[in-house]
Amino acid sequence: MSSRWAVSKDADQAITAQRKRQKEGKRRAREQKQKETAEQQEQQAQRSIEPPTKRRRTEATSLEGASLLPQTNPSFGQSRGLELYDILNNIEEGSYGFVSRARENPTGEIVALKRLKIEHGNNEGFPVTGLREIQTLRVCSHPHIVHLREVVVGPGPMQDVYLVMDFLEHDLKALLEDMDEPFSSSETKTLMLQISSATEYLHKNWILHRDLKTSNLLLNNRGEIKIADFGMARYTASPPPRLTQLVVTLWYRAPELLLGAEEYGFEIDIWSMGCIFSELLTREPILQGKNEVGQLSAIFSLLGIPTPATWPAFKSLPNSKALYPLLGTTRNLTSQLNSSKYPDLTEAGIQLLASMLTLNPEGRPSASEILSHPYFREDPRPKPKQMFPTFPSKAGQEKRRRRATPRAPNRGEAPRLPAEDFTSIFAGHDSKH
Ligand SMILES: Nc1ncnc2c1ncn2[C@@H]1O[C@H](COP(=O)(O)OP(=O)(O)OP(=O)(O)O)[C@@H](O)[C@H]1O
Ligand SMILES: [Mg+2]
Repeated sequence: MSSRWAVSKDADQAITAQRKRQKEGKRRAREQKQKETAEQQEQQAQRSIEPPTKRRRTEATSLEGASLLPQTNPSFGQSRGLELYDILNNIEEGSYGFVSRARENPTGEIVALKRLKIEHGNNEGFPVTGLREIQTLRVCSHPHIVHLREVVVGPGPMQDVYLVMDFLEHDLKALLEDMDEPFSSSETKTLMLQISSATEYLHKNWILHRDLKTSNLLLNNRGEIKIADFGMARYTASPPPRLTQLVVTLWYRAPELLLGAEEYGFEIDIWSMGCIFSELLTREPILQGKNEVGQLSAIFSLLGIPTPATWPAFKSLPNSKALYPLLGTTRNLTSQLNSSKYPDLTEAGIQLLASMLTLNPEGRPSASEILSHPYFREDPRPKPKQMFPTFPSKAGQEKRRRRATPRAPNRGEAPRLPAEDFTSIFAGHDSKH
């Protein structure tokens, strides 16, 4: 017969084991809770659209006179309803929204409606790109930035969110594809001045657009450009905060982003503007890589390989290792950007284009410097916008058709470039260059 002690000992052990299990359970629950709270906080931080706290400036920067625009808190409490608008036709389905042409009921005014893509059913909530777009457009007021009239909600339980914007007849991408000839020099100057003045405004107000490309530049029939699509935009600061490199549509993406830079500045928008400048002159996107490696290859074969002298910070960029084998070679290609590619462009024009497409971001001009470049003061002078030709609007009829081009990047992990073979950069070039 087992003793009472033995029984109570067993019972004690069982109780201790049970307490242990309970404690363990509680500890797990606590850890789980902590993990969930940390994840929630992280998600909130990621979704945060507040500008980063302005840090103390450590050095004089070229941002003298920059200011922060007043912050508004996007709220939809007072939003009017979609029933005020009659949808006339669809214009385009982009990565983040469906855009259509619509008429405002009481006034008869024609507007553009962008329905934000909200994945109902998952717990992602309101898309961060939508919040950024609304928040940025609400504070921006510039003749060459698209005007956000209001935000309205759709009917029913889904409550889709629509941005109501001024309607513009064209986007530059669709227009260039349809034109028999590219824009003339004087038209290109007018367009570039307008784009540069809007970008100067954004940068002076610490806003990076991060997706400048021809399909995000709208043109009306009065010769006025408006920058649109602020889904990638965000505030920056000096010194720049760490940001994702997964921004800017591939063909317009600056080399420092492709090489993995996490701290970057206004220069990435200037690079995209250089690509746009070239596209206005030739109608073709200048750098058309199939993927990140292909894009870098296209950039280096057009503009040459960076050297420690031309781009000192290059070697410290995360993805630059893949290119080390090339750097020591004698085959440093020189830039192929010259007048043979742009027969109508003057010396000053080539010089401006080449400066915007400088590999080293520090070598690129600011938007203000572009505006005061001699290219815009020489003949032929910029064409007055009243004298701009008008083009038939595709957006006024049916869906805009365009050739396949890369989409704005999806949010997520930025790719690391494999140590891929970059020798294709030299294809067709004399190795003694
Ligand atoms: N205000 C407007 N007036 C006329 N057309 C517009 C307007 N806004 C946008 N569009 C058209 O809709 C297209 C898509 O709009 P937008 O770029 O804002 O959406 P998106 O989903 O963020 O696009 P993507 O990710 O493909 O760049 C534009 O390229 C343009 O053709
Ligand atoms: Mg777009």
